[in-house]
Amino acid sequence: MKPHETLQPDPWHFARPELADAYLQAFDLKLSSARGLFARRRMGKTEFLRRDLLPAALEHGYLVAYTNLWDSRSSPDSALVSALAEALEPQGVKAVLARLGKPIRKVKASAKIPGGAEGSLEAELSTPEIDRASALRELLRQLDRQKKPLLLVIDEAQVLARADHSDFAHALRAALDIRKDRIKVIFAGSSETTLREMFARASEPFYNWAALESFPLLGEEFVAFTIKLMNSMARNRLTLEQGKHAFDELHRTPEFFKRFIERYMLYQVQGAEAALVHTRASVFSDENFLKQWSGMNPADQAVIALIARGETDIHGVAGLGRLSALLGKPATKNTAAHALRRLQTQNAVTRLALGDYRIEDEAFAEWIRRRSAPLR
Ligand SMILES: Nc1ncnc2c1ncn2[C@@H]1O[C@H](COP(=O)(O)OP(=O)(O)O)[C@@H](O)[C@H]1O
Ligand SMILES: [Mg+2]
Repeated sequence: MKPHETLQPDPWHFARPELADAYLQAFDLKLSSARGLFARRRMGKTEFLRRDLLPAALEHGYLVAYTNLWDSRSSPDSALVSALAEALEPQGVKAVLARLGKPIRKVKASAKIPGGAEGSLEAELSTPEIDRASALRELLRQLDRQKKPLLLVIDEAQVLARADHSDFAHALRAALDIRKDRIKVIFAGSSETTLREMFARASEPFYNWAALESFPLLGEEFVAFTIKLMNSMARNRLTLEQGKHAFDELHRTPEFFKRFIERYMLYQVQGAEAALVHTRASVFSDENFLKQWSGMNPADQAVIALIARGETDIHGVAGLGRLSALLGKPATKNTAAHALRRLQTQNAVTRLALGDYRIEDEAFAEWIRRRSAPLR
């Protein structure tokens, strides 16, 4: 079962065939074999990749593999291995499992469970007994035998930049390096900083490997499409101007705009402005962030505030100085170390490399930067 095949048709999806073609054409021209795309969260990356790019690539004669590493932050290696397995026919996966010396459980040929036989084959490849690096090697060998080239889409790829995934990332890069002709890769992510570091830092496995560019954002055409579709169902129609106004007010965020449309559809008599007020209040409510923030002790708050501002050397003299200033009392290396450990346990912060930390949720980071701005 391939991810794009499990998607239900969505009449509200604004298709972007030209954009999909542009990416595929660039690969055809062999100008590059890998691209990195970034845009903030909720801007339509995943939807484009799964609903536009992957189907277009299939049509263009590619095998396709998609994985969203955000869903498998702790084990991006198994996620990638099973995504690659999904690109293969069941026979291919069986061959890989056989090469890995893994006995294949008997799967009833007649069983027509959704995602059935194939699903379980893929799952078998990502069980703990199987060595990820060998699985990767064998899968790629199997993919080498296919006539079709492969398009590998790695969504939220910045997860690979984490120090604990470094070995696998190196293995992946080495494997992809020698297959640039046959495997095209798209890295997408929500954190520009982290993606940049992935490709721009000499010590990183993907150093200099992909050109990084911003993902073209949805704009007026998307608004016009959505308003038109909505008007075909609504009693009280909205003008394009009203739609554009709402889109702007919602920071041109497709996800929030769709929520506005939904709210308007349900409460048309209240009017567009009321729907907008409601949507703004619900999406920009900082209730959740405030809750997360209030649950932290002062040292954790101070440390995460420093990280949000791009401070890396928390343990250093300057870092500890700033930490003390924020806390209003002297901070020691221990203060910093304990706070960092707690923040990592809560999944608020990730360690990218020695002494280099990032806040997992960019929106939370942004929220912290805004609230702590006067402290600067
Ligand atoms: N092309 C599109 N057409 C219609 N709605 C879209 C489109 N792209 C994004 N959206 C809306 O925005 C939401 C967030 O998009 P998503 O692709 O998940 O963002 P990202 O991956 O950048 O975080 C989607 O769930 C959908 O409601
Ligand atoms: Mg996404």
